[in-house]
Amino acid sequence: MRSFTDIKDLSKSDIEAILFRTKQEKKVIAEKSSLDIEKILLGKTVALIFEKPSTRTRVSFEVGISQLGGYSSVLQASDIQLSRGESISDTAKVLSRYVDLIIVRCFEHQMMIDLAKNSSVPVINGLTDQSHPCQVMADILTIEENKGSLSNQNILWIGDGNNVSRSWVEASSIYDFQITLCTPKELSLPIKFIENSIANGANIKIDYQPESAINNKDVIITDTWSSMGDNSINKENSLKPYQVNRELIKKARKDAVFMHCLPAHRGKEVTNEVIDSNQSIVFAGAENRLHVQRSIIWWCLKND
Ligand code: CP
Ligand code: NVA
Repeated sequence: MRSFTDIKDLSKSDIEAILFRTKQEKKVIAEKSSLDIEKILLGKTVALIFEKPSTRTRVSFEVGISQLGGYSSVLQASDIQLSRGESISDTAKVLSRYVDLIIVRCFEHQMMIDLAKNSSVPVINGLTDQSHPCQVMADILTIEENKGSLSNQNILWIGDGNNVSRSWVEASSIYDFQITLCTPKELSLPIKFIENSIANGANIKIDYQPESAINNKDVIITDTWSSMGDNSINKENSLKPYQVNRELIKKARKDAVFMHCLPAHRGKEVTNEVIDSNQSIVFAGAENRLHVQRSIIWWCLKND
């Protein structure tokens, strides 16, 4: 039994095992149906705790759990005793006696870690203020499907230095690709974190100028300028030059693909003409959340 907490806690072979199973199952579903995949959750229940809204994470997990033969119990944090001060550790111990797996989306990263520490069943990180590992697993799959391989790709992260970008930087210490971080200087991920990642083998470039940063890139990734729970004001003015629009994306490679974890704020971080263009693989990425998460559940529950 193991929890899926962060990309940095995985080895390359863990990621490869998850992606290998995902591709196999996706093929079975495409050629036959989801009824033909292994029902690894038969007789099992999964609790999903949400402190923040969600469309993709909630629905893709619920559908994936049902495809695996399991049952989902969705718990809005405001509806359970957590909201009245019950501790994370007591919540973890009690839920562990009812369910076989817990998925959590929360504000404080430490809450997810504490839940995992105190649970006797695996915990999956469905987004915290610091990371979004399920998203990056789906993104890696989507890049492999569209570009053949993640290795040697020149990836651009443009916009806010947020939770999704942190998980991408963690992936860059494991995989052999180059990532350029293009954020306003004051919205960069902490420099210490970037330096540590470089010391761990990541190939990271920093370029605060969108026009030069996007030059020759294969994959362009952005996200909302204001993440859930981020109450900072006046970010929009500094982020305006970082909008991914037709003029900017022209400077990337001709065959560059555009990615966004969604939800998108059209007209802010990305324009309609980019997100709806042939270069955009955002909806394929959203679908891959469903496929990759079934295999993340498998990885958490499998006996080695
Ligand atoms: N990308 C993503 O996690 O979307 P939701 O917030 O809708 O779950
Ligand atoms: N960075 C965004 C991702 C949403 C899926 C947020 O945290 O709101």
